[in-house]
Amino acid sequence: MSEGPLRIGIIGTGGIARAYARAYREIPEAEVVGLCDIIPGKAAAFGEREGFTKAKSYVQYNDMLEELELDAVSVSTPNASHAFITIDCLQAGKHVLCEKPMSVTLDEAVNMARAAKRADRILSIGFQPRYDPNMQAIRELVQSGILGKIYYVETGGGRRRGMPGGSFINKEEAGFGAIADIGCYSLDMAMNALGYPKPLTVTAQSRDDFGKSPKYNGGWDPEEFQVEDFGTALIRLEGDIVLYFKISWAMHLDTMGATFFLGTDAGLKCTPGGTGNWGGAWDGGVGSITLYHDLQGHQTESSIPLKPRDFNLFTEKVRDFVLAVRDGGAAPIPGKQIVRNQAVIDGILRSAALGKEVDIVIPEI
Ligand SMILES: NC(=O)c1ccc[n+]([C@@H]2O[C@H](COP(=O)([O-])OP(=O)(O)OC[C@H]3O[C@@H](n4cnc5c(N)ncnc54)[C@H](O)[C@@H]3O)[C@@H](O)[C@H]2O)c1
Repeated sequence: MSEGPLRIGIIGTGGIARAYARAYREIPEAEVVGLCDIIPGKAAAFGEREGFTKAKSYVQYNDMLEELELDAVSVSTPNASHAFITIDCLQAGKHVLCEKPMSVTLDEAVNMARAAKRADRILSIGFQPRYDPNMQAIRELVQSGILGKIYYVETGGGRRRGMPGGSFINKEEAGFGAIADIGCYSLDMAMNALGYPKPLTVTAQSRDDFGKSPKYNGGWDPEEFQVEDFGTALIRLEGDIVLYFKISWAMHLDTMGATFFLGTDAGLKCTPGGTGNWGGAWDGGVGSITLYHDLQGHQTESSIPLKPRDFNLFTEKVRDFVLAVRDGGAAPIPGKQIVRNQAVIDGILRSAALGKEVDIVIPEI
């Protein structure tokens, strides 16, 4: 470990790297010393724009890993390159904060988690909504046991028109569309609250009607649209829990509604602040939390007061990672756990392609 601030490299200096730049500027325990982007000149321009004038710029991340004595890296490239870049960085002895979704396939996610274990390095995955105090309140309520035996959960989200373009609709770069891009947040919200039970089976459907239609073109090219813009799934989780999931980049509806947890003693309904994808960088957070329970024989609704949030979730995610690296702590959002999120997504896509229910089998890490 270097003396002074941790030496950080950012790999992938596109859209979300700006959030990393802001975070690292605000965290005195870390200093960005290396920037890398596969497009020549892009990392250097980013460094200048974001004020990292002393950071060295690279086109090949392996050159950066060889030349700079980095402590840790942020991987903010498109989804399809998360696995091989993360594994190379871990093998080079660097701690890694990798963006969501963790990978494209379940095998990739497993290999990433195994690489972190072998290298004895932190692998944390970018789910910043976990730093939202209201998300934390939802998890605490679910974990408290107040709901009794939880048997059914619904989650998901949708934008009426929120189709991204660029690398997000190109299968080679993104790997998949809405199901993983924003769906991974909804899945993390529900599964994290439940304590990440093992997923067992899934039956799912996906569609690409909006993306492929010139009628709804809002900036992307329908000819270039290669991923799904809608997905729905019924997932069986260990512990006799059924999770119903739906997600949409575009639809003829304002919102996919609440995330809710049904238990034998109480139910918990959480409505989204915006249209609701549960707090991805651009989608807003929690709008309300209500507990439905019986009190002295009366059907009662208790509104849980929302906590104010006057800090940047993304910056907190990065700070927590940096402090874990500095202090030799555990991964704040462990890759090993997020393998289960990826296993659900992998199952959804397999089931949608086959048109029938599939098993989810997660290899040992
Ligand atoms: N946590 C969040 O809130 C959040 C928000 C948006 C995006 N993301 C995730 O961040 C990742 C990147 O998204 P984005 O919007 O910044 O995409 P982007 O396309 O704007 O940027 C990605 C950058 O990575 C570069 N790149 C691609 N392959 C590379 C390689 N092998 N080596 C070095 N650079 C490479 C590209 O040239 C590009 O500049 C995605 O996985 C996305 O899901 C997370």
